[in-house]
Amino acid sequence: MHFQWYPGHMTKAKRQMQEDIKLIDLVIELVDARIPISSRNPDIDELGKQKARLILMNKADLASAEQTTAWTSYFREKGYFAVKLDARTKAGMKSIQDVIMEACREKIERDRRRGIRNRPVRAMVVGIPNVGKSTFINTYAGKACAKTGNKPGVTKGKQWIRLNKNVELLDTPGILWPKFEDQRVGLYLALIGSIKDEILNIDDLSLKLIRILQEKYPNVLRERYQTEENQTPAEILGDIAQNRNCVKKGNELDYGKAAALVIDEFRSGRLGKITLEFPEKQS
Ligand code: G4P
Repeated sequence: MHFQWYPGHMTKAKRQMQEDIKLIDLVIELVDARIPISSRNPDIDELGKQKARLILMNKADLASAEQTTAWTSYFREKGYFAVKLDARTKAGMKSIQDVIMEACREKIERDRRRGIRNRPVRAMVVGIPNVGKSTFINTYAGKACAKTGNKPGVTKGKQWIRLNKNVELLDTPGILWPKFEDQRVGLYLALIGSIKDEILNIDDLSLKLIRILQEKYPNVLRERYQTEENQTPAEILGDIAQNRNCVKKGNELDYGKAAALVIDEFRSGRLGKITLEFPEKQS
């Protein structure tokens, strides 16, 4: 699938991020746990190369727990700190606090050697649209946090959220753009709902999803929709339309409605916890 972004926006956002990154110690990068590679832009590796790095695999509530664990090991082996997350809940935030301190341990020790004590770690959240950056900032910061800003030495206009005595967060997240070099990236982003449905062919998308499910999660379709195995994706979509009473006037099957239903049930997690991209396939 091909999509066009406005290069002007991308250049501006990238320039802004280059500036912001100078102010921080730690890059907190959010990815979607269902597609941890397709939902990241590897340019961040270059942009954040002098900084401590933490990858949060967000929306882990929608992904296969087993695959998320495998992805955690994958990223850790590559030298990132990595943690799974459901950014809507407070539950995971304590462990994130600990891992932030761990990721910045070198900086904290360097400060200490220089006699600097209690200078908070500064962090910034980055990620492609819709991975949950704002949700994470809101949940993590909560209501109690105080906004600080315009301190001497801080670029004018920058707002920092003081999370506690140890951590400050830049209040605006950095937006990265997905990298559509591989056709699968566009397909996966469309499936998780990161691309406006108006520009997508939902029928086609649902057939591709059915194909993936047949291959990777063979029981899901049978259990959810009582479909027969060993059929083509189009036949399966027909079964779903039939079993879910997706019919038009004159009792004709409504494939469009069935397609939208499958996509919706996948995105909302009603089809189960499904990861689309697997670490063993990556280099
Ligand atoms: P962004 O800043 O990176 O663009 O993403 P944002 O926080 O706006 O989150 C995008 C959508 O993802 C929101 O749903 C949000 O509720 C949802 N979301 C964020 N984190 C998680 C998570 O860990 N698990 C799940 N299941 N969903 C998550 P929305 O439908 O756009 O809005 P709404 O339904 O919350 O109103």
